[in-house]
Amino acid sequence: MNVELVRSLGADHVIDYTAEDFTQNGEAYDVIVDTVGTAPFSRSKASLKERGRLLVVLGGLPDMLQIPWVSMTSTKKVIAGPAAERAQDLLFLAELAEKGHFKPVIDRRYPFEQIAEAHHYVDTGRKKGNVVITLAHDA
Ligand SMILES: NC(=O)c1ccc[n+]([C@@H]2O[C@H](COP(=O)([O-])OP(=O)(O)OC[C@H]3O[C@@H](n4cnc5c(N)ncnc54)[C@H](OP(=O)(O)O)[C@@H]3O)[C@@H](O)[C@H]2O)c1
Repeated sequence: MNVELVRSLGADHVIDYTAEDFTQNGEAYDVIVDTVGTAPFSRSKASLKERGRLLVVLGGLPDMLQIPWVSMTSTKKVIAGPAAERAQDLLFLAELAEKGHFKPVIDRRYPFEQIAEAHHYVDTGRKKGNVVITLAHDA
């Protein structure tokens, strides 16, 4: 089901991780983005092209520590750590959204009173995109 969702967002080619291991398909990529913590450098390095980049969204201390070592010993790079908060980046995202190139995926909405239920749902690890908390305004 998520395969169709990702395709609808504009992906030309989608790999279903439950059916295919991207590290075993013989392909190499310029950039790999690990958003859920299942593709550390040790697993992904053979699937990166020369000068390829692994972007680790959930980077912990081990990922941060290996950044200088990978840079010194390989043409590949690991990018991890907190992102800079820059107004120009937000403006760029807003511009993409205005043009319809960036389509945020909203899975469910919960009123503020049900924030515990919202957390329970997010904690399942199965949400698709974002869960939104709505706040009521006085008329
Ligand atoms: N969202 C944020 O703003 C944010 C900010 C900072 C940090 N984080 C952290 O980043 C992590 C990811 O957050 P998230 O918002 O993306 O929620 P999430 O609950 O980790 O992501 C759930 C989604 O990831 C998919 N998924 C799970 N394992 C996968 C895999 N091996 N390959 C591809 N897709 C996989 C699931 O699809 P299936 O149901 O098909 O498995 C589901 O659609 C969390 O640990 C969170 O704490 C999130």
